[in-house]
Amino acid sequence: MSPSKTRSTLLAAVAATAALGGAVVAGALVMDRAEPSSADAIPREATVEYGRRLIRETAALIGPNAEDPQMRYSGSNLDCASCHLETGMKPGTLSLLPSTPRYPRFSGRDGQMQDMRARINGCMERSMHGRTLPRDSVELIAMELYVDSLNVRLEAMGETNSEWDEQPLFEAPERRADPEAGRPIYADRCAVCHGADGLGLLETGDPKDGYLFPPLWGPDSYNDGAGMHRVLTAARFIKARMPLGQADLTDDEAYDVAAYMNSQPRPQKANLEADYPDRLRKPVDSPYGPYADGDPFSQDQHKYGPFAEIREWYRVQREAAQAGSGSAEDERG
Ligand code: HEC
Ligand code: HEC
Repeated sequence: MSPSKTRSTLLAAVAATAALGGAVVAGALVMDRAEPSSADAIPREATVEYGRRLIRETAALIGPNAEDPQMRYSGSNLDCASCHLETGMKPGTLSLLPSTPRYPRFSGRDGQMQDMRARINGCMERSMHGRTLPRDSVELIAMELYVDSLNVRLEAMGETNSEWDEQPLFEAPERRADPEAGRPIYADRCAVCHGADGLGLLETGDPKDGYLFPPLWGPDSYNDGAGMHRVLTAARFIKARMPLGQADLTDDEAYDVAAYMNSQPRPQKANLEADYPDRLRKPVDSPYGPYADGDPFSQDQHKYGPFAEIREWYRVQREAAQAGSGSAEDERG
């Protein structure tokens, strides 16, 4: 079988699994994928359903308080679904429905090609402040299969694909985002769920049961290398999704409250200076250096904007360096 044939058979099997709502078809997946490269074989335990649970019950299964100490890969008690709402099934911002066909692709952050497993591990190390799952682990493969199954679902949705139940996409105001202006917005619109201290509310007393309302900062939040730590990514998410069930902030409010949230303390990722080996690919709102040689903008401007002049400077430099046509904006995770 050709690789693409193998893949489409795999997706069909995944679709069948999703449709049946059961794990019976997992056996078929094993057979389809077992040949020709045994290194790529799918373990029997790696089912779509297990992948879905890993994304919804991340803290319980691979969190820092998971029952099996060997399975403690995530460094926070967030769930993947804390950001990828409705277990990634909600169309629109941070949906995982359209993800599968985007990979493999070049990652400016890693300076190399990245497949779905590597992309998931990116969120493990940053959004979840944890360590990477082994590439051939049942857990990583199950999450990949689950994300694949969402794409099958998306294709089956056809016309309704475009029905995004969310606000118009965020457009950054052309000014510096103001954390002080975000403070009262936070108090009025966010604190009721995420807490006045931003530390969220656990579902039960036991951290491994995860959060009812996840923390936005503090020791159990995403780290400073995460996509959500970038003010444009955070504002985009907040405008589309928050306050949960009543997302109605203006661009200005989303921008300022994102700046407020991201000026609070959070875990730090080691070795961030190794990100974006080609620094001209660094996103304009990367809140940490080092930046490209000669970059004239302050750390504060990279963190809070305004961004248009930074974007323009990078565009000109990239053209001069013939750095290729890849957009520095194409990666936000
Ligand atoms: C009605 C309760 C509620 C309100 C109000 C609310 N959120 Fe949330 N928020 C949630 C829940 C619940 C989740 C996680 C969703 C899940 O697990 O399914 C979440 C997730 C998030 C996340 C991603 C996960 C994380 O912890 O980093 C961010 C960021 C966020 N909210 C920001 C905000 C901001 C900013 C506001 C105010 C503008 C706000 N929220 C208002 C309930 C709320
Ligand atoms: C704190 C929020 C947050 C958490 C928690 C989180 N992610 Fe993400 N994730 C992001 C952001 C932000 C992006 C980048 C989206 C973009 O590029 O627009 C992303 C991107 C991704 C992508 C790539 C999507 C695409 O279409 O390119 C995958 C897959 C993914 N995450 C999976 C996971 C998994 C699995 C987990 C749990 C192990 C997880 N994420 C936890 C915020 C989060």
